[in-house]
Amino acid sequence: KSGEKQKSGLVLFREKWYDYLIGVSMQQEGPDDHQIPLRRLRSMRQQTTRISPEDISRQLQYCREVAALSAARPAQPLAFVDTYGCQQNEADSERIRGYLREMGYGFTQDEEQAQIIVLNTCAIREHAEQRVLGNLGALVHVKRRHPEQIICVCGCMAQEAHVAEKIKQSFRHVDLVFGPHALWRFPEFIHTLLTQRGRVFQVAEEAGSISEGIPVVRQDRVKAWVSIMYGCNNFCSYCIVPYVRGRERSRDPQAVLAEVRELVEAGYKDITLLGQNVNSYGNDLDIGYHFPDLLEDIDKIPGEYLIRFMSSHPKDATYRLFDVMAKSSHVAKQLHLPVQSGNDRVLREMNRRYTRAQYLDLVNYAKRVMPGLVLTSDIIIGFPGETEAEAMDTVSLVEEVGFDALFTFIYSPRPGTKAAAMPDPATREEKQKWFDKLLEVQNAMSAKLHAAYVGETVRVLVDGKSDDPDYPLASRTEGNRLVRLKGDEALMGKFVDVKITGSNTWALYGEAL
Ligand code: SAH
Ligand code: SF4
Ligand code: F3S
Repeated sequence: KSGEKQKSGLVLFREKWYDYLIGVSMQQEGPDDHQIPLRRLRSMRQQTTRISPEDISRQLQYCREVAALSAARPAQPLAFVDTYGCQQNEADSERIRGYLREMGYGFTQDEEQAQIIVLNTCAIREHAEQRVLGNLGALVHVKRRHPEQIICVCGCMAQEAHVAEKIKQSFRHVDLVFGPHALWRFPEFIHTLLTQRGRVFQVAEEAGSISEGIPVVRQDRVKAWVSIMYGCNNFCSYCIVPYVRGRERSRDPQAVLAEVRELVEAGYKDITLLGQNVNSYGNDLDIGYHFPDLLEDIDKIPGEYLIRFMSSHPKDATYRLFDVMAKSSHVAKQLHLPVQSGNDRVLREMNRRYTRAQYLDLVNYAKRVMPGLVLTSDIIIGFPGETEAEAMDTVSLVEEVGFDALFTFIYSPRPGTKAAAMPDPATREEKQKWFDKLLEVQNAMSAKLHAAYVGETVRVLVDGKSDDPDYPLASRTEGNRLVRLKGDEALMGKFVDVKITGSNTWALYGEAL
């Protein structure tokens, strides 16, 4: 492949460092070139861009122009934003909704009622992608009934060249495709679609950017997400994220602090700081300011609230981080520290850059300085070449650590990643057997740890309704364990002391005191 950019169709205009193509055209590499050599991606490290305030105000100007079109309609137009994947995507959807609100749109969960449908997609595993493609395919019929509808696909899948190409060729009902890098230009794309004919594809590969000042519509009144950084530099060999989310880039600490302060003042009680690896926060800023510094500064914000964060890569987690957590008053004593595997050979092949022993040392230190720490992790079973004995090393690590809960996955090959090209002789049945063993061990551990709460009095944040009629409220302990609660709805959004009366593998049960 030459790697030379193919351009076809109508180029409307070209601005600054980015190309803007519209019509039945798309800027991308040849269809197979999404297997971008690592060396080239890594060399992009220094090329992240800060979007200027003027650029964002221009987007807000587009919002006003679209809002004028919305106001001229017989009824307020509605939008449906459907989010897949991780909290980062949830946070991005809140910004998409923020822009939509500025454009005069209300919100619906019913695709038949929506003038704009946005699918914010996830590429982490094949199953996630199939779900999106299935739902996207079904929208053909919806759009046939509502031909004026605008259908948008964004998020991590949109940034994969082969997916964008498939949508371009086979999903003709999709009007707009843009990757995470282009999210800040969403109003401009909608404006173009409403005022001109054609489709918009904005999926150019880039290192990524940082933009401040995009409006948000938050989905919750008690819990809030705050992205502190974007992208990933780690290139774990199985993972698609660095390819679709670009290089690591940190928000300015002052911007993060201002956002958290605003949330606390607005009454938010449970704030989660987001990044693919928050432990490398600040590395790209070169100001000698790192994640523990940020946590210390956030902790000084007065108020009654909890701070959580995810994810935390063990290779960059430090004793200092745990010390800061231990002495802070707002940082929850809860740690999500994805280990992925308990076997050193597999960890090396995964490019995780820590050993089982190093992981255990970190966890032991964290537990020592934070007694009662609630610890969770992510695990992949069936990495290419993993043997049964190696998978059982993971099971034994899980037993040894005693995680409160786990997010467990069977390996899913992601085209273009290093691991996707590795020989993978174990059968699906074998992997399923190892996976079931892991679940069995973890479920027993979760049930045991939960049972130890019974009879205790714990402080929880009431954050929603439970689907259990006998325990109508849902709440979370500081460690983020679910407590189904008997109590009055007036407790919603409040910290309360509860007596734990029962438990199972997945939840605790209690009564408000
Ligand atoms: N940045 C986070 C992980 C984000 S993805 C971190 O490093 O901790 C969330 C989880 O999905 C990962 O921790 C991993 O366990 C899982 N995952 C990622 N790629 C996968 C793949 N190809 N197959 C199966 N699970 C995968
Ligand atoms: Fe993926 Fe690894 Fe980056 Fe997490 S740290 S997003 S698993 S490459
Ligand atoms: Fe999925 Fe993208 Fe998150 S691939 S897990 S939505 S960063």
